Amino acid sequence: MTVPLIRTSLPGPKAKAIIERDGAVVSPSYTRGYPLVIERGSGATVEDVDGNVFLDCAAGIAVNSTGHSHPDVVRAITGQAQRFLHMSGTDFYYDVQVRIAEALASIAPMRGGVKSFFGNSGTEAIEACLKLARYATGRPNFIAFLGGFHGRTMGALSLTASKAIQRRGFGALLAGVFHAPYADCYRCPLSLKPESCAAECLDVLEHQILVQLVSPDDVAAIVVEPIQGEGGYLVAPGQFLRRLRDLTTKHGILLVVDEVQSGMGRSGRMFAIEHAAVEPDVVAIAKGIASGLPLGVAVARSDLMKWPPGAHASTFGGNPVACAAALATIKLLKNQLVANAATVGGRLMDGLKALAAKHPLIGDVRGRGLMIGVELVRDRQTKERATSERDAVVKAAFSKGLLVLGAGKNAIRFSPPLVLSAGQADTAIRLFDEALTDVEIRS
Ligand SMILES: Cc1ncc(COP(=O)(O)O)c(C=O)c1O
Repeated sequence: MTVPLIRTSLPGPKAKAIIERDGAVVSPSYTRGYPLVIERGSGATVEDVDGNVFLDCAAGIAVNSTGHSHPDVVRAITGQAQRFLHMSGTDFYYDVQVRIAEALASIAPMRGGVKSFFGNSGTEAIEACLKLARYATGRPNFIAFLGGFHGRTMGALSLTASKAIQRRGFGALLAGVFHAPYADCYRCPLSLKPESCAAECLDVLEHQILVQLVSPDDVAAIVVEPIQGEGGYLVAPGQFLRRLRDLTTKHGILLVVDEVQSGMGRSGRMFAIEHAAVEPDVVAIAKGIASGLPLGVAVARSDLMKWPPGAHASTFGGNPVACAAALATIKLLKNQLVANAATVGGRLMDGLKALAAKHPLIGDVRGRGLMIGVELVRDRQTKERATSERDAVVKAAFSKGLLVLGAGKNAIRFSPPLVLSAGQADTAIRLFDEALTDVEIRS
């Protein structure tokens, strides 16, 4: 299929009609940046209801890890659906839930035994991490990071510190959550360079928050994204994560890594924390794990997961169809797609970096594997955030047939399906180049 192929004005007539109906009956709280109404998808391409074909570098917010409707995943789903759809893994047993827990134990980024708790989303995975951390340590408090996003249910939302609109009107949130500065190396408040810094941004956490606000022996867990997703695709240097590991070990605090967006091969390793050679105590997984079916998992060291029957459960968590999709997904990731994310991600990164030479709007290109952020600025010296220009580039890319999403205040994220080919990466670079040119000419 030729990609991209734009046949109508956007949105086309059929898309327009659906969007109008949506406005009448669907919650207005969703953040739709542009009017895409999907009809079908295959690999890294998406066709809309009017027959327009797009190259997908958004993957349903970093979810369609194996591409749209990968035949192996569809086969696993239909095979399981024909046998049974639901039995509730919290009250009964079924083999596919055991098999996915075994598969997760084989890829978890920590040595020793682990156990899995199953929910249906990222936010539920985080809720499970929070409850488990309190239960296992007997401590009430949590540390999270400014710019972090961990979900929207009340517990997870209390950790989220990404955009004020996500919290506005919903207080009071969970007590005992403290936020520390994250490693934003493009905007380092200490003007340090990642190569030569010892994660001094963590001094605020270690020497102020844990001294002036909360005693370390009252903290259950530190929850961190190894690469901040919604925060703007910020890559925490290994130093930062290793220092966090040392700090948590010293004080008996659990290190919970939120790999909901960065996990399942997207960074070019199965989990982004592996780049730092750090072993967490608990890891939260969702998004890419089941190629689009809802599944969220908290994977914890076995010695931590000692809560008794009834302490925590979910009717739909570990749905057998989602588990079957996850098993097929992990097989594809292990066999080829994690490696593809690393190699094609490198090509995409190089191509996007090269665009900086001709586009003054590009302030920074960063990321790992197929998790790449491009931060737009009005001036490279002052780093003034090009927020409206960012929104305009996302829309211009859409009009040219490239699906990307914003992240943070002024970054654009590339989070394509991990099946993206080298040729498709080149197409993405070309379309992005054109979108930047359009916006630069206009502004
Ligand atoms: C790092 C991270 N954690 C948690 C979540 C919440 O996941 P969900 O939307 O599935 O609840 C997200 C969603 O974007 C995320 O990026």
